[in-house]
Amino acid sequence: MESAAMPRSVVTYPRVPCSLQTLGCNLLLRTSKATKPPRLSCRATGGRVDRRDVLLGLGGAAAGLATTHPGALAAPIQADLQNCQTPDIPATAADPSCCMTYRAGTSIADFQLPPASSPLRVRPAAQLADKEYLAKYEKAVALMKKLPDDDPRSFVQQARVHCAYCNGAYDQVGFPGLEIQVHNCWFFFPWHRLYTYFHERILGKLIGDDSFALPFWNWDAPGGMTLPAIYANKSSPLYDERRSPAHQPPSLLDLDFSDTDPNMPRDQQTDQNLKFMYRQMVSSAKKRELFLGQPYRTGDAPDPGAGSLENVPHGPLHGWVGDPRQPNGEDMGNFYSAGRDPVFFALHSNIDRLWHVWRGLSPSNTDFTDPDWLDASFLFYDEEARLVRARVRDCLDTAALRYTYQDVGLPWLNAKPTKTAGTPVPATGALPAKLDKTVRVAVTRPRVSRSQKQKAEEEEVLVVEGIKIADHSRYVKFDVYVNQCEGGAGTAAAECAGSMALTPHVIRHNNKKAGSVKTVARFGITDLLDEIGADGDKTITVSLVPRCAGDVVTVGGVSIEYVK
Ligand code: C2O
Repeated sequence: MESAAMPRSVVTYPRVPCSLQTLGCNLLLRTSKATKPPRLSCRATGGRVDRRDVLLGLGGAAAGLATTHPGALAAPIQADLQNCQTPDIPATAADPSCCMTYRAGTSIADFQLPPASSPLRVRPAAQLADKEYLAKYEKAVALMKKLPDDDPRSFVQQARVHCAYCNGAYDQVGFPGLEIQVHNCWFFFPWHRLYTYFHERILGKLIGDDSFALPFWNWDAPGGMTLPAIYANKSSPLYDERRSPAHQPPSLLDLDFSDTDPNMPRDQQTDQNLKFMYRQMVSSAKKRELFLGQPYRTGDAPDPGAGSLENVPHGPLHGWVGDPRQPNGEDMGNFYSAGRDPVFFALHSNIDRLWHVWRGLSPSNTDFTDPDWLDASFLFYDEEARLVRARVRDCLDTAALRYTYQDVGLPWLNAKPTKTAGTPVPATGALPAKLDKTVRVAVTRPRVSRSQKQKAEEEEVLVVEGIKIADHSRYVKFDVYVNQCEGGAGTAAAECAGSMALTPHVIRHNNKKAGSVKTVARFGITDLLDEIGADGDKTITVSLVPRCAGDVVTVGGVSIEYVK
């Protein structure tokens, strides 16, 4: 990470090694270039497309992949853009659609990296942005908001992109009726990287500045733990009135927000936030699926399971910013409307930055190499309003994408949670159960007291499976503890393995199981067990503590798995 002007107050934070970059970009090696992009026609205008042609045409790299997932069609996941179905958006919605502008016959270009000689965009921390930068950023957003709604680069369209990929507007190519969902799975990081990448370039283009960079909301550092002031100015185009009035600056952020404000002293809240960051970035994120999320391949049902950071603090951040006076926590508190708030892009810039940081924390923190991940493709409009197909493999190297982040240090890197003194509460419950109250179950560990080498090779993972959410129009959160003590210290204690925190979606109306979600939550607990001194125990007590909307959640079971 390159450093731009660094403020004095943060220079003592631990930092990540400079040799962060892991995967280079394979764009130039792609063999699919010879494949002609197909011309899609729009169903609404009476055109017809053979789905198989679309599948083969879009999935140029498909041929070699048939063995990776027997039974599924060969191509990695793609969206069926010609066939957009707007979800059941509330009557109160500011924009009644969820579909990206799409015209029959629009050709799709393969993503190309920007020239290596183009300026490197340095994303500044929002709390450190200067006046000159702010003026440019505000001007760019104002211009974007002024574009006609049907211009693919307009602010309205930008918000629709998120709604479309996150609220089930598109089917998977080749699987009519099976929605595409980029959350709760391994596409969370790459999809949002591409989304913010194109958004940033459109903003830069509108002000004629090819070095323009989005800011990042540095919520993982004490200096960034409020809503950034630049978004709170009522006369700025960065302002959104549909935000929580209680969480305007200087109100301090709770990275584990569970719908009520804890009102603890600022120092203590800050300290807790750093502990959550340590847990989500380090101790519970030791294997790629634990950080990036679970595999999600062609033909799979959505929501196989989120990675650590997507659950916390990503879920709580959405809920914390969203406006509780609105029916669905709009704008940020619901995926259908989240892209309407400019702060969304700053929140996700930091998510993106932390993906980059995570790779540098340990040699074992590497991306997936599975072609079903690397070759999955998504469609976006670029700064020239061209429809572009970008693959996950296109976006893995931020230097090749010509952007980087201001170096502000990692204040959470040593913020390891500590054990609570006391006696663990015994297990008295059984699963499956509804989470309308705390459920404590005994879980048997197949292996105890493994060697350091075994622990490094295979992470012990607590799997909370068969999670069913009957109504996902509400923010759902529950916390998971191992051997929680009497009187229970909170989620910042070492006994807490983490939380499942899902930002609500509005699900489309023609889906038979409207609004319901099935998913699995996984927590790396090797360090946790060492820290609480339970690594020799054959049986542990796992507590599932509902925090938000537990009455709509049921859990099937809890077990231990080992992940390489
Ligand atoms: Cu697509 Cu923060 O969500």
